[in-house]
Amino acid sequence: MSGTWWRGAAIYQVYLRSFADGNGDGIGDLAGLRAKLPYLAELGIDAIWLNPWYLSPMADGGYDVADYRVIEPAFGDLAEAEKYIEQAHALGIRTIIDVVPNHGSDQQVWFQQALAAGPGSPERERFIFRVGRGESGQLPPNDWQSIFNGPAWTRVPDGEWYLHLFAPEQPDFNWRNAEVVREFHDILRFWLDRGVDGIRIDSAAVLIKDLDSVEESYTDHDAVHDIYREWRRITDSYDGRFLVGEMWMPDQERFALYLRPDEMHTAFNFDFLSRPWQADELRASIDLTLATHGPIGAPPTWVLSNHDVTRPVTKYGRPDTSFDHADRRHGMVTDPPLGERRARAAALLAMALPGSVYVYQGEELGLPEVEDLPDDLLQDPIWTRSGRTDRGRDGCRVPLPWSGAEPPFGFGSGTPWLPQPADWKDLTVEAQQADQSSMLALYRDALRIRRTELGDGILTWLDSEPGVLAFVRESGITCVVNLTDAPVDLPPHQSLLLTSAPLDHTRLPPDTTAWLHPSS
Ligand code: GLC
Ligand code: CA
Repeated sequence: MSGTWWRGAAIYQVYLRSFADGNGDGIGDLAGLRAKLPYLAELGIDAIWLNPWYLSPMADGGYDVADYRVIEPAFGDLAEAEKYIEQAHALGIRTIIDVVPNHGSDQQVWFQQALAAGPGSPERERFIFRVGRGESGQLPPNDWQSIFNGPAWTRVPDGEWYLHLFAPEQPDFNWRNAEVVREFHDILRFWLDRGVDGIRIDSAAVLIKDLDSVEESYTDHDAVHDIYREWRRITDSYDGRFLVGEMWMPDQERFALYLRPDEMHTAFNFDFLSRPWQADELRASIDLTLATHGPIGAPPTWVLSNHDVTRPVTKYGRPDTSFDHADRRHGMVTDPPLGERRARAAALLAMALPGSVYVYQGEELGLPEVEDLPDDLLQDPIWTRSGRTDRGRDGCRVPLPWSGAEPPFGFGSGTPWLPQPADWKDLTVEAQQADQSSMLALYRDALRIRRTELGDGILTWLDSEPGVLAFVRESGITCVVNLTDAPVDLPPHQSLLLTSAPLDHTRLPPDTTAWLHPSS
């Protein structure tokens, strides 16, 4: 069992710079995280996934890695990272780190060497350098656009251009280069040797490019699978470790290819996260997920939020409750109480499904998206690269409120790197710990029941009226979600285990989930 613990795990995502600040500089760090480990142990999670914690100029919040063998000094150092891994293990919490194979940092030694060595050098071969088009090479090699807006190519002083699917500070690696392949194998071993239990693979589907194509041809080329077969071999040479891939891909059959038994163990399920709060949509997503994962034996994952997407409380309170990177719907009206009600119901739905579940820090507090951050404080490169039209992802990255009645709400003694809303006093951990009806109390109860009673058996749908989702797990635990606008009857049951909102007499109110034990 311990070897495959990840199949049913509850994994908590720590966005380190916004979690807790131990030294008062306004940036979350390892000292802050270590001090809060008892909170996470009590929450009842199995593992922590940490966003990149390595040396970084922070052009993209750490997804521009300058050195994988050095911890970013703002966060701590290698000795402290090792101490943290050990301390977490002692509390029964495993650690998943983030590896970013698509690109590095322009401050990384390799890239600096490539700039210095010049055109045609082996140093340039580690990245994707090309001559430009036009008479004097003044036009980029092709018209590809960066995922963060603007051209995907930047010209260097000697006239060549390099490719960056994200920001210019994140030059793409050349995955046809043997040194790149080897270097990442060494990085995996470096951290697996230090006891990390899992690896999250960033932007996993875009490593192989077809530069001759006029179209943007970088997502999901077949050759990318060879990379992960090697990574799987390395990971499986250690006991009980696993890979989780980040692939945003509409085609679920192509998606499932990454989860074949000799590739990644798991991948984030963004289909579920992107769907609107509608019974038919959610059921379709669940069925699709189970149908694609089942035959290859990979456990599904259920994700409601992360550091790239709109907070559920805000998203589910909008008229359009779906999520789409291309249109983050900033500033769309939202009804916070409705959003919170649905976010609670969604959490119980996600946690009742077979497979593993991810909880992004602050989700358990019901934090909303902060949509009124001052323009000049926004740090997401999307903001400037979109010509200040897309506010990017900072609104879900605001430092956590821990205690007290005003900012910085116990985050640390300094001024947080992004300002917290003044009205977060009712959302602090301290306030919610004292309140049995809080989001935090719901997450704790749900995680406990999930761990002790839910079991890992299959899901069977029960007959239900339109707009209601009802299924039973092999353990007998039954989950009913009411997405209609009127109360509905619950199936006959022996006991009610948990509800996301109080019942309406004996009926399940709108936007509410119940977990129950059926009558035998
Ligand atoms: C992934 C990360 C995101 C980052 C991007 C580039 O999507 O989750 O935060 O900006 O990759 O590394
Ligand atoms: Ca700090």
